[in-house]
Formats: sequence, structure tokens, C-alpha cells
Amino acid sequence: MVRRVAESENPFRIGGAVSGRHFTDRVDERRRIERALTTPQAHLIVFGPRRMGKTSTLRVVQEDLANKGRHVIMADLSTASALSDMTNRILQAAVRELGRRWQDALPKLIQRLSVKVGLAPDPSGILLPSLDVAMRDAGIDEQRATLAGALDAIEHLAASKRARIGVILDEFQEIHRFGGEQAEAHLRGIVQHHKHVSYVLAGSDERLIGAMTGPRRPFYKLLEPLAFGAMDPDHLARWIEERMGAAGARADGIGARIVTLAEPRTRDVVQLARSTFDVARRFGRATEAEVEEGFRQVVLSEDAPIRALWDALSPLQQKVLRAVAVKSSGLTTRLARRQFGLGDTGPATKAAQTLVSRDVLVKAEREYRFDSPYMRGWVIANALADVGLALPVTHVPY
Ligand SMILES: Nc1ncnc2c1ncn2[C@@H]1O[C@H](COP(=O)(O)OP(=O)(O)OP(=O)(O)O)[C@@H](O)[C@H]1O
Ligand SMILES: [Mg+2]
Repeated sequence: MVRRVAESENPFRIGGAVSGRHFTDRVDERRRIERALTTPQAHLIVFGPRRMGKTSTLRVVQEDLANKGRHVIMADLSTASALSDMTNRILQAAVRELGRRWQDALPKLIQRLSVKVGLAPDPSGILLPSLDVAMRDAGIDEQRATLAGALDAIEHLAASKRARIGVILDEFQEIHRFGGEQAEAHLRGIVQHHKHVSYVLAGSDERLIGAMTGPRRPFYKLLEPLAFGAMDPDHLARWIEERMGAAGARADGIGARIVTLAEPRTRDVVQLARSTFDVARRFGRATEAEVEEGFRQVVLSEDAPIRALWDALSPLQQKVLRAVAVKSSGLTTRLARRQFGLGDTGPATKAAQTLVSRDVLVKAEREYRFDSPYMRGWVIANALADVGLALPVTHVPY
């Protein structure tokens, strides 16, 4: 019995999109994304903080629709360094998805492009197109025209097959980085003329997306917004306990503790569940002690990148982080400012804002919080001793 438990697979998966048994809930979001992808000209913009589960949810909808015989292309634009890289991603996703149904998808897509396209097999042997490398150095207008050409080619293919195609562009705000505001206007121009393609644009840079969809910006009104927030904490807690129990570690009542320690990002919560299970599987049950040890293990495993980040901060920024790790009001009360050596409010607030712009802190409910619960734990475990303080690594200041 104990042997079976020790060898059972960890029921929690982190890193990359999850699906199947590793994915839970998001019922409303799935319904809305599915509707947008199957309704003519019902475009959606999915936006929210990082690590919430956007990509996973989009993938799950794509799989659901594929099982119903629908065509959905999903292109990951997150690593692109130029508009032409984005075009490549879109073309490749289109060929991968549509080539399985229509043998002539590849020639039909590339014959409409006005630039040279090379073909190379991917690891599974499918021939995938990519633009001539010279395109990366082409002028912005030419790159934009090529991106438009690729999307138009998908529209034409859909029309010729009398089919509807859903296109998901994940991390699409990157278009702003390479093509500027005009790229948005341009993309809008393309999107709104397509009758056979529905678009779901997703992104995690909230500030940028907010700016892109603001009143005087091109995307305003074209896209229906879907704010992608935290999952229902009760559901998540129950799901964690069920998954642990089914994998051989009884976990009564600790789901909520895991959520509280690691929320609001789904990935962080699942990461703590995963680590807790690794500790708990030896005993066949998870209690608060295993959760605490699981948390400590995650903090330890992230020591090197967090330490590097810490070392690169200014002394004032480090002081701000100590204060925020201890108390939610750490920057505002005079007592706390003295305790952490923060000096005047002005410079301390400015340091906090810089930390927000670098995604170390976030501003929530008018107070500063850590973006990562594990960085918070690291500061508590490693940097509080500098000022003569000691708290448990699982201390939650808010
Ligand atoms: N609905 C879910 N059920 C279970 N686990 C989930 C769910 N959504 C997200 N996760 C967990 O969060 C991790 C990150 O999810 P995902 O990559 O989909 O998020 P994202 O919002 O696209 O993140 P990023 O901002 O990094 O692109 C997954 O690997 C998984 O561990
Ligand atoms: Mg993602």
C-alpha cells in the first residue's frame, strides 16, 4: 500500500498549458470563448494577470471544438521578436491545424502570400512554412502587409471551404512592441473585414491591453472584453483535496490553506499543491505541516533566481520589500516606516511603484503585495533577520 502511494504520479502539473484531468473549472470563461470562436464576427479579448490559466483555458476550448469537428488555430506569439515572427507562428499553427483536414491547406495558404516562403519539417514530419529570413529586416510596412496577408489567406481558405475558422492569438499585445499603435489599427482593419474567421485575442500585460482597448484606441468597441481573474477559491480547494486523495494522500481541510498561502494566481496555487503532495505522499496524508514544508520547498527551489533579483535591487527597494512582506500597511504607518528604515513616504512609494513596474509587487485593494507568494516567503526566510525580525515562512501579511 505504502509502496503504491510512493510511486503514484503527482496529480498536479505546472509549467505550460494543462488540460484533461489536470485542468478544472473555468466553465463561464470556456463558454464565452467557445461562443466567440463559433459566432461570425464575435471577437473577444481575453486579458488578465499572468499565471492565471489563460493559455490552458484557450487550449481546452480549442480541444473541445476540435472534438466537435470545428477548426480552431491557436498561435503563441509570446516569444516573437518581430512582426514577421508572429506571421510565422500564425502560418505554422494554421498549417498544423488545417492541414489535417484539408490536404490543400498548405498550398492554398502560401499561394496567396506575396513573399517568399520556405518549408521545413517539424519534429513530427509535418512540413511547416516560414517567411524568408530577410523578412525580419524588412520595413515595418512590409512586415505588417505580410501579417495581413497571412490572416487574409486564412479567411480565403475558410471561404473556399465554406467553413468557419476560429483564430486565437495568445500574447497578441506583442504586436504593439513591434508595430506600434499603427499595427493595432492595421490589425483591426483586417479583423473587422473577415466574415469567416472569428478572433480571440489574449494577453497578460494588463496595462498594455488596457491602453490598447482604451477609448481612442483602434480596438475599442471591436472586441468584447473577458477579464480573466482568479479561480473560485472554494472550488480550487475542493479540487486539490480530491486530486490528492485520489492519488493516495488524504487531505482533509488543507485545500483552503494551500489557496490562502499561494493565491491569487492559479499556477502558484497548483505549484504549492504539487510540492505539498511530494512531501505528503510518504505519509499517505497531507496536513498543515506538509503544506508548510511544501511551501518551504518551493521557496528553496527558487532561491537562485530570487537571490539574483534581490541583489539587483537598491537598498530602499529591499527595505520596501521587507516592509511589504511583514505588514500590508508596511509603507504607510509611521511606526512601520521607522521599523524598516524607509524614511519619507515619497521615495518609499516611488520605490514601490518601480517594483510594480518590474512585476515584483502588484497593487491590489490600494495596498502593495508581492507578485509571487514564493518571493514573499523568500524575503521572510532570508532578509528579515537583517532587521532583527523572525516570522514563519508561511506568514501572510494581508
Ligand atoms: N483551470 C486550471 N486548472 C488547473 N490548473 C490550472 C488551471 N489554470 C491554470 N492552471 C495551472 O497554472 C499553470 C499556468 O497556466 P497557464 O500557462 O495556462 O496560465 P497563463 O495565464 O497563460 O500564464 P502566462 O501568463 O504565464 O501565459 C498551469 O501549468 C497549471 O499548473
Ligand atoms: Mg499564457
